[in-house]
Amino acid sequence: MKTRITDLLGIEHPIIQAGMSWASSSSALPASVSNAGGLGVVAAGPMYVHDFVATLDQMATLTDRPFAVNIPLYRPQVSDIIDAMVARQVPVVIASQGGPKAHLPRFRAYGAKWIQVVSTLEHALKAEAAGVDALIVVGTEAGGHPPANEVSTLVTVRQVLREVSVPVIAGGGVADGWGIAALLALGADGVQLGTRFLMTHEATVHEAYKDAVLKADAADAVLVGRRSLPVRTLNNKFAKCIFDAEQRDVPAEEYEALFKKSTLKQAALNGDVEWGKVEAGQSAGLIHHIKSASDVMAELVLELHHACGRLQAMSASNLPAASLA
Ligand SMILES: Cc1cc2nc3c(=O)[nH]c(=O)nc-3n(C[C@H](O)[C@H](O)[C@H](O)COP(=O)(O)O)c2cc1C
Repeated sequence: MKTRITDLLGIEHPIIQAGMSWASSSSALPASVSNAGGLGVVAAGPMYVHDFVATLDQMATLTDRPFAVNIPLYRPQVSDIIDAMVARQVPVVIASQGGPKAHLPRFRAYGAKWIQVVSTLEHALKAEAAGVDALIVVGTEAGGHPPANEVSTLVTVRQVLREVSVPVIAGGGVADGWGIAALLALGADGVQLGTRFLMTHEATVHEAYKDAVLKADAADAVLVGRRSLPVRTLNNKFAKCIFDAEQRDVPAEEYEALFKKSTLKQAALNGDVEWGKVEAGQSAGLIHHIKSASDVMAELVLELHHACGRLQAMSASNLPAASLA
């Protein structure tokens, strides 16, 4: 399938594996996705600089296809990570949680593409004005940190599509080829899937984490921390402790301390799925198997073609000729 995103990034399918701290903070998952014709994304967020550099070296040996690095711009030592990306000429930057202006010229200088993650129309317009090549627009269904305003992917993506002209990649709740077809039908030029790729053999999180997400239903992936930086995680002891703190209306400092005490690392690395932040999207309820990333890619492409074929057949047989004008 050819879209403005496949053209821009030089990839075969308009499918981006979302940057996921820990799960894709290594080469295995991104290299597999890129080799299967999507865009693999290394999540630099939690990585030490030396590990990050080693991962870029591995990427160079594992794939000759384009890949991206996801970099939350607020992270400590961000300039060291940026220096390493520029030195190794990473072809695509996916930036979140911070504006592009300070860094964009260094990436432009060697022809890299800059994609900005946003979740509101306001931020989409700002990023476009700053000169980014494309946007990733994420709605509330998403795992990780979805928008605080809790607006769905279906609505947020269309709001943005009506106002911007750069290509849009839609994310949050996509999960399968039917979801991809729906978002392309809205006008997106690509999609980003996190939770689906989290449930692969290559994703580098503890097996207990994968098991917990596999067992979860859609409604088990709840939004936690509305008084802080909300995160969509499984409804475990950590989540219940925060809901309880909200009920009791605890002072802000106590709330923040409780919220920060639990981490994604605790769940992803140590397998503490009761007290850690088990970040996952609502699409956990649609995912019932852990597969290899290449099998997931093949399945997504097949489903996408089925879904597009179904729409095409419907429009050919049902659409009154007059409405085509
Ligand atoms: C375990 C996990 C870790 C994540 N880490 C990051 C991250 O480091 N940077 C980022 O921009 N987004 C992160 N996200 C959000 C994803 O990039 C993506 O927007 C989201 O997973 C898409 O929704 P989906 O899970 O419904 O497919 C994370 C999501 C998950 C599930």
